Amino acid sequence: MTAPASPTPLSQDELKAQVGLAALAYVVKGEIVGVGTGSTVNKFIDALATIKDEIKGAVSSSVASTERLRALGIPVFDSNEVEELAVYIDGADEIDHQGYMVKGGGAALTREKIVAAQSKRFVCIADASKLVETLGAFPLPVEVIPMAARRVMRQFARLGGIAQVREKDGLPLVTDNGQHIVDVTGLRITDPRAFESEVSQWPGVVTVGVFAHQKADVCLLGTASGVKTMQ
Ligand code: 5RP
Repeated sequence: MTAPASPTPLSQDELKAQVGLAALAYVVKGEIVGVGTGSTVNKFIDALATIKDEIKGAVSSSVASTERLRALGIPVFDSNEVEELAVYIDGADEIDHQGYMVKGGGAALTREKIVAAQSKRFVCIADASKLVETLGAFPLPVEVIPMAARRVMRQFARLGGIAQVREKDGLPLVTDNGQHIVDVTGLRITDPRAFESEVSQWPGVVTVGVFAHQKADVCLLGTASGVKTMQ
């Protein structure tokens, strides 16, 4: 007798779709939802479109998400039009067991932090590869005013980091806010709150991609055995 074939493991894309769908349970009906940026959030936006008649609309954290939301018929509000959001749903590049995150792989960290700050609850959606013990293996994105880039890079070097300006098509990448991104490797961020507070004060830093003061309240983690909820 042949043993039954073991099920094909889910791809990373399928894990992202799984958590994108699971996040619908956190959307408050009749309200405006905060929407992040990235490939996992794109799955969430696609799922959100199936209940678009049950929400007022969204506040978006990037031009890319705004375009996707509008293309699917979901109204997008300016963040200044809304005082508080019940929930913000976004991905992460790394998340630890306390809900502290590194974000900004998609260069949208500044608007992501703004929308997170105006939301009562942050629901992080990620595939299991994003869960870490200590933040820092993923190159830390830092949005900087271009004239400060070299100085900020030297400051990271003093902390043992190696920083480089993110490029696109051979030129410095320009964010939705007209700024540049510095990516820093070689860091081990053992105290995310202190680190975020410190780097946020450096002249020319717009936003550091450590989300400790705006950490996740809930994380929906896509795993081979289904969606795991961490809170
Ligand atoms: C964009 C982000 C994203 O949430 C992060 O990069 C994760 O993206 P993905 O879901 O594509 O892995 O912070 O600035």
